[in-house]
Amino acid sequence: MKALILSGGSGTRLRPLTYSQQKQLIPVANRPVLFYAIEDVIEAGAEEIGIILGPNKEQVMETVRSVDWPVPIRFIYQGEPKGLAHTILVAEDFLDEDFVMYLGDNILRDGIVNHEKRFRATNSSASVLLTPVDDPQRFGVADLNPDGSIRRLVEKPKEPPSNFALVGVYFFTPSIIQACKSITPSWRNELEITDAIQWLIEHGYKVDASFVEGWWKDTGKPEDIFDANRLILDDIDGRCEGEVEESRILGRVVMEKGARIIRSVVKGPCIIGERSTISDSYIGPYTSIGIGCRISGTEIEDSIVMDESSILNAGKVVESLIGRNVRIRECDSLPRGSRLIVGDNSDISL
Ligand code: G1P
Repeated sequence: MKALILSGGSGTRLRPLTYSQQKQLIPVANRPVLFYAIEDVIEAGAEEIGIILGPNKEQVMETVRSVDWPVPIRFIYQGEPKGLAHTILVAEDFLDEDFVMYLGDNILRDGIVNHEKRFRATNSSASVLLTPVDDPQRFGVADLNPDGSIRRLVEKPKEPPSNFALVGVYFFTPSIIQACKSITPSWRNELEITDAIQWLIEHGYKVDASFVEGWWKDTGKPEDIFDANRLILDDIDGRCEGEVEESRILGRVVMEKGARIIRSVVKGPCIIGERSTISDSYIGPYTSIGIGCRISGTEIEDSIVMDESSILNAGKVVESLIGRNVRIRECDSLPRGSRLIVGDNSDISL
């Protein structure tokens, strides 16, 4: 089996972070979201991975190449983003056998091994993963027959026929290529994978569905990134490879090499990245601090701070998503007040 992982798209709902960073590279528990997808497909037996690239292609290639993965990875540039089914056409030459397509901004707690087994066992042309959601209008939605088979799939329906959303993982035989060639763009001018699968159903191909066990997150919006960060941190084991001085560490805390905690209280689950220094601060549950950060005189919880950022005497920070190389500090000169240099589409609560 091969795998096609999608790491393109412009990530508009995650601006301003996505002006400088591809959305699939945003860290969750200090690892790019994309790495969870790569691990899942390898665990399910993918022997070769194709990664679809979009606007920040160099960045994605560099990040993926920073790890020595056990299977070959090929990069495929999509050019203009014209939909999920379009990525299959762009990768047509690569997709000469059964494959799993995995949207690189999705995270599944329990991986996809069982779903791969089921795809094989049912001898289907395609197999989709479903899960009940509260807001089906945001997703592709499945209308099921009483026996559990799929009657119809609709993309982002205004009036959803059910609350079963399509998770961003699909198993396909190469028959999907013909389906992608046969459909026309949707109202949002994209070749929808949902329409291609619907084409298979209408042309007599066997399409199977299975339900996801454990949690699933599509990390399309900041709230989803926080949720995913909490869920991943809930499962971590504490470990300390750094130094602790005059501090209290409570619960499961991961301290990477070269991390230092000085005169502080750190309450897990949380993770402090390599070479980060925490001093005179409180780091609360569900916080991921990246590499080379400096936190001093600050209380922070339920937040993600990306690499090389510093937060100095900033009071209490909660539910915050802080990009790379950001400086937040107390205003210590006159006139007093908030001094902000903030990118487009930022979101600040003071
Ligand atoms: C895509 C699919 C949709 C699916 C979702 C899962 O939506 O089109 O059917 O439910 O991924 O993450 P998009 O991320 O393009 O809005």
